[in-house]
Amino acid sequence: MPQAPQTLELLEQEVRLHPVPAHVAIIMDGNGRWAEARGRSRVEGHREGSLSVRDVTRCARRVGIKALTLYAFSAQNWARPLTEVHALMDLLREYLESERAEILENGIRLHAVGDLDRLPGSVRGPLERLRADSAANTGMLLTLALSYGGQEELVDAARRLAEKVRAGKLEPSRLDAAAFHAELPTALLPQVDLLIRTSGEQRTSNFLPWQLAYAELLFVDTPWPEFRAQDLVRCLRGYQGRERRFGLTGAQVRSERVPPA
Ligand code: IPE
Ligand code: IPE
Ligand code: MG
Repeated sequence: MPQAPQTLELLEQEVRLHPVPAHVAIIMDGNGRWAEARGRSRVEGHREGSLSVRDVTRCARRVGIKALTLYAFSAQNWARPLTEVHALMDLLREYLESERAEILENGIRLHAVGDLDRLPGSVRGPLERLRADSAANTGMLLTLALSYGGQEELVDAARRLAEKVRAGKLEPSRLDAAAFHAELPTALLPQVDLLIRTSGEQRTSNFLPWQLAYAELLFVDTPWPEFRAQDLVRCLRGYQGRERRFGLTGAQVRSERVPPA
């Protein structure tokens, strides 16, 4: 049942009282199963899912998330039936056209990662226009992972580094994590603080392997078409209850939080 707006507002206020993850990434899964369970076509599930994208993006911005990355279409999803792929591309185009004004009005910077050259011109056109027109915005970085594959991206970076070494522009012993990060096609993205996957599957499906190194992982059973602002807020509260240790002991982490006397 949809929650009363007042309740959502209170929940969001509560979230803002605690540290909010700077970078949230979401694997928006379960559209097809949600629709099939209701005797509807998978495409209808994707359509309903695009309403969740809008709701969750608005909420993310309201609570002060700095970067939101949404897995919308994987490199592997090209192998789905052609009718589904076409329908997804149509929905993407519709999304980019219908959200354009709101993205620009709210100071959101739209970004995209993945093999964008594989996208049809009907998607690439509005995507590149919105990317260019929102490039100077500083409100929230909204990244769509489209035709994206994590292994593909790592191989890409390795190839570019190898080329640099061959050209004498890079000394292999100088390659460190920061230099490797800079070479990634997703270099604009910071490390992920919180990864959410909807619909019960507990895997990362080739999504941001580099940036997920120390992310908190949260798997929820709710299918993406039913995942709305209040569900995001619940996930954020869950994140806020966790202790991130980055290899330290719990005592070390807790003592670092205490301001020096
Ligand atoms: C996520 O929902 C959307 C995309 C992968 C494009 P799915 O289409 O994977 O839905 P399920 O997992 O089959 O239910
Ligand atoms: C991952 O979902 C990709 C997106 C959500 C866009 P999939 O549904 O394609 O992943 P698998 O195949 O179940 O791992
Ligand atoms: Mg799926």
